[in-house]
Formats: sequence, C-alpha cells, structure tokens
Amino acid sequence: MNLLPAAAGARVLAFGEYQPANVVTNDDLAQRVETSDEWIQSRVGIKERRVAGPEDSVVSMGAAAGGKALAASGLAPADIDLVIVATCTLTEQIPNAAARVAARLGIEAPGAFDVNAACAGFCYGLGVASDSIRSGSARNVLVIGSEKLSDWLDWEDRSTCVIFADGAGAAVVAASDTPGIGPVVWGSSGDRADKIYLREGKYLYQEGQAVFRWATTELNGVAAEALRRAGVEAEQLTAFVPHQANLRIVEAIARKLGAPQAIIARDIVTAGNTSSASVPLALARMSERGELPSGSLVLTMGFGAGLTYSAQVLEIP
Ligand SMILES: CC(C)(COP(=O)(O)OP(=O)(O)OC[C@H]1O[C@@H](n2cnc3c(N)ncnc32)[C@H](O)[C@@H]1OP(=O)(O)O)[C@@H](O)C(=O)NCCC(=O)NCCS
Repeated sequence: MNLLPAAAGARVLAFGEYQPANVVTNDDLAQRVETSDEWIQSRVGIKERRVAGPEDSVVSMGAAAGGKALAASGLAPADIDLVIVATCTLTEQIPNAAARVAARLGIEAPGAFDVNAACAGFCYGLGVASDSIRSGSARNVLVIGSEKLSDWLDWEDRSTCVIFADGAGAAVVAASDTPGIGPVVWGSSGDRADKIYLREGKYLYQEGQAVFRWATTELNGVAAEALRRAGVEAEQLTAFVPHQANLRIVEAIARKLGAPQAIIARDIVTAGNTSSASVPLALARMSERGELPSGSLVLTMGFGAGLTYSAQVLEIP
C-alpha cells in the first residue's frame, strides 16, 4: 500500500450562512415567560435571535447555507464528494440530513453523514473533512452546521427559551498544497452527560451554572493546545470565534487567551445560541463584514452537550 498523503493540506474556500427571517426580541419573550430584556442581556448577552417557522428545517436551512458556500467557492455541485452535516436537532433521524442536503443542492452520490457532537459538532466536522482530504478519501467537502433548537425547547422554561435559536452555517473545504486547517483538538467528558440533556426526551435541559463553570475554567487549555498543534502563537490571531453559548463565557475565555489584538466573535448578540451552527454562522457573517482578511488566522472552538469540545486554527480564504 502507498500510504503517502493524497494532499499536502486542506483549506476552506468559502463560507455561507442562513438565518430564518423571524426575529424574536427579548421583549417578545418577556410576554411569554417571566423575564426581561435587562436580565437576558446582562446574563447571556443576547438582544435578539431568529426562530424558524414550519417552512424551515435542519435540512432546508443546511441546504441554504451550504448552497451559498458552494456558490462562493467557485466549485460546482459535481466537484463535492463528501457532505458532512453537524446537527443535534434533527427531528426525523432516518434518513440523515447530509444525504438530503446533498440532493437539494444537486450533489450526486457524495459520501454523506451527520455528526452529533452538539455545539462542538462543526469543528469536529471540519477536522474530519480536513483529514479525509489529506488521506485521499475526499477531494472537496461541504461541511455544514444546522440547528433548529426551537423544536426542542419548552417555551415555558425561561432558563432555556431565552438562550437557544435557529440557523445554519457552512464551509467548503478543498485540497491544497499548503495546509490551511490546523489539527483538530477534540475530546469529551461523558461523566458529565447529565449537565445538558433532553428532559423527558423532548426538552433541552441544562445545569446552567455547572456548564458555565466548566466552559470558563477548563476550555482555555483546549484553545492553547489547538494553537500549539498548528504552530501558531496567540499574538498571530486575527480573530477568535468560539461557540456562541453565552457572551459572558465567550468573553471570559477570550480574556485568558493572550490575544488582545484578536477580534472576538460576538454573533450571539443578534443570533442567539445556535449550537453547532454558531461557529460557521459567525465566520460567514464576520467574513461578509470584511473583518477576516484573506490569509488571516482564526481560532475556532466548539463546546456543549456530552460534554464535548473541539478547537482548530483556520487560515481565512
Ligand atoms: C443559564 C444562565 C444564563 C443562568 O444564569 P445564572 O446567572 O447562572 O442564573 P441562575 O441559574 O443562578 O439563576 C438566577 C436566578 O435567575 C432566574 N432566571 C433564570 N432564567 C431567567 C430568565 N430568563 N429571566 C429571569 N430570571 C431568570 C432563576 O430562576 C434564578 O432565580 P432565583 O434566584 O429566584 O432562584 C447561565 O448559567 C449560563 O449561561 N450558563 C451557561 C449555559 C450555556 O452556555 N449553555 C450552552 C452550552 S452549549
């Protein structure tokens, strides 16, 4: 067997995003449950979020974001040979979302599978995409994070319904002569699976304070390890794009990163917590605003139910 790598590296060619049209403000939620704009903004950092209607699904939103990334990449549907959808909110588990997204986009006969690593899922998917390309199992990969958390919320539970939201983000990853995606650092802590789970099998439940403590005390080591494995110093980062769980968590991790020059993604303010969609959604929106110049280095990080976590460095296309 010839086990030489098939491609020296893999890199992102383009991002895409999709958000449902329906904007739900904190004042809207305050009419349903006992909460306030002041409480939500000060504890979570969210001003408004998007909530999908019946016309939007994990598959339709994923296809919309994926279609935009594909168009921006300059590749044709026929060029894509692997589709990965990170999601933990698919209501119909069979068949998977990836094959249905591929069919909607006219991508014929790709490898197609879903990744459920909760809010860490997109970074897991990106790691698998990069490794598949370098090993020769794929040439061009569409990686999507798509979530419809509104299907899994108890809209009477103020501790969750003010946090979570819907949306999708995507990246096209292709073979390249030089690596543009650093090694993924991933892990989990299944002994704490009870910190975020589906209550009665249908409503998202979390121990907010335990999750907060975990994220703000244990995840900086994951970020540091992703930088080390990519051979990148924190001072070289143009941006830090962590999972948009809670603005206070984002800012606490960012403070300890040692990268005062880096732009910190604060997409949660208008997008809410969209689980595995939050990192690619933020990347796409920051790119659209011109905040991520070509060639700049970005540290991404995901974390959530499982507990799972993941991080890697990306070079912006
Ligand atoms: C969920 C979270 C915002 C709660 O904030 P907190 O400061 O820990 O608040 P607590 O849970 O201690 O609750 C404090 C009080 O606010 C109340 N409260 C909870 N949600 C509320 C809301 N939406 N509006 C008003 N009050 C609320 C609680 O009932 C509690 O009231 P009490 O003191 O009378 O019992 C916070 O713990 C958090 O963000 N954790 C991380 C969760 C996360 O990021 N999860 C995603 C991981 S992917």
